[in-house]
Amino acid sequence: MVFNNILTLEVLTLLTCLTSASKVDAPYPNQQQIHLDPANGHSHHHHHSSNTSPASNQERGSTNSWERSFLPGHRKFDLFENSCPIPSSELVPWPGGIGKGSKWTEVPHCTRMPHVTATTGVKNETGINDTFCTFSTKSFQGGRGISVATKPHIAEKIATLPAFKMSSGVDLWKKSYPPFEIKPVPGKGMGVIANRTIFRGERLFAHAAVGIYHNDIFLTRRSKDYRLRNRMMEVGVDKLPEESRKKFHAMIGQKNAHHVVQGQLNVNTFGEDFGGEEHSIIIPETARMNHDCRPNSMYYFDPETLIHYTQAARTINAGEEVTITYIDPLQSREDRQKAITYSWGFQCTCSHCLQPTTYSEASDGRILAINSLVKLLLGETKLKGNTTPSAAEKTKIAELLVDLYEQERLVSHIVDAWMWAAQTHKEAGNLWESLKWTYRSEEGSLIHEGPRNEAATRMGNLVQKVSEKLGVDLGYLTEEDEE
Ligand SMILES: *[C@@H]1O[C@H](CO)[C@@H](O)[C@H](O)[C@H]1NC(C)=O
Ligand SMILES: *[C@@H]1O[C@H](CO)[C@@H](O)[C@H](O)[C@H]1NC(C)=O
Ligand SMILES: *[C@@H]1O[C@H](CO)[C@@H](O)[C@H](O)[C@H]1NC(C)=O
Repeated sequence: MVFNNILTLEVLTLLTCLTSASKVDAPYPNQQQIHLDPANGHSHHHHHSSNTSPASNQERGSTNSWERSFLPGHRKFDLFENSCPIPSSELVPWPGGIGKGSKWTEVPHCTRMPHVTATTGVKNETGINDTFCTFSTKSFQGGRGISVATKPHIAEKIATLPAFKMSSGVDLWKKSYPPFEIKPVPGKGMGVIANRTIFRGERLFAHAAVGIYHNDIFLTRRSKDYRLRNRMMEVGVDKLPEESRKKFHAMIGQKNAHHVVQGQLNVNTFGEDFGGEEHSIIIPETARMNHDCRPNSMYYFDPETLIHYTQAARTINAGEEVTITYIDPLQSREDRQKAITYSWGFQCTCSHCLQPTTYSEASDGRILAINSLVKLLLGETKLKGNTTPSAAEKTKIAELLVDLYEQERLVSHIVDAWMWAAQTHKEAGNLWESLKWTYRSEEGSLIHEGPRNEAATRMGNLVQKVSEKLGVDLGYLTEEDEE
């Protein structure tokens, strides 16, 4: 199906100051063409998984008391005191309807919201307004459906992704049974419990997003139009097919959220950029996985297919809970606990957080060392006397990193250290050593970030280069072999 550019038919730049939904028939002059900038696409596969870690309202506005008690920056929301009245709970249907040839099956509902910049992490409302709409299709991925609440030009780009060409959904367990059960876990609500041994690299979850929400929609309830923002989120859910809607409503949200759907989105979404802007994606099935600072699984999101994958990072025994990390694990215990409490409102009770002080201090020391050594390798810091480590020293630093990751049981992230080892050994001319770490890195980055990721390809190429230099035929696959 050829996507017809509905967005240039009517551009909603003049929705400002509609005082009620009855003004829907107001004229929408064609005053602004929307330009697509392919270079400004979504950010692909970041190397560090923290970029796709569950988004939290730490990065957005906050709605709950526990967050207010721990605000990293002071945000002001009184900028719109005198703004023209926006209907408090009404969105405006797109006057052009669905649009011929559109990927969306539901009429978009729109509103205008302040444009936000986020320099230095502080959201700054600029006085300019942007149009936001909820675009939905019930036919996405074999009837799973998806709602996208964002700026029209970004939605248009999203609709051209390969995800929208997939006629059926992903069904990981069509031919076999899942190796886990969803069960109540004491103190944690529901959890994912392995019911047989699961090995590193086994794929556990693969589900398409059912919602993509622009992060600017999440601004604070102190915004005058907070009800409208909440409505936008609700409409996105309401327009999903029944099964996906039920899954959405079954998710646990923030306990004292002022608004149910926002409360659910606040704690269950993952961050991803589209059109260069931050969005939150929701995959209700993944919400079942609980947090651990030393998780046994990792995940990545494919921004082309909009599918979120979770894979085992190590052997998981039957009866063990399958976990992922909600935060950057390379933080001290105190920072991890703050991050978890701030954004998710629960106390971190993972075994690593509960260690006696002496042990957790030693762990913090290793985390600090990891962060410092990486800075040294990156050339961001130097040794005493303003010297840089030699190539041989760098290999030792990289191997120390590998060791520290192992000691910290950071199996879900250790590929970062492996890649350093591969790289530094190559630079030092230790080709056999380099080859060893390159093979590990390739395996690790495939599990960590999926086959499309640039790191895995780079490591594959490195195997080839290094083995050529060594003069050894390792029989690596050529393009034809892969067919
Ligand atoms: C943005 O919208 C507000 C009302 O929501 C209005 O007061 C303001 O003038 C608008 N700004 C621009 C640049 O149109
Ligand atoms: C907010 O944005 C405006 C316009 O881009 C800029 O002039 C101002 O310095 C920004 N304020 C902060 C606190 O970033
Ligand atoms: C594990 O649980 C799934 C349900 O999620 C079930 O289909 C499967 O048969 C179970 N496997 C074993 C070995 O009990």
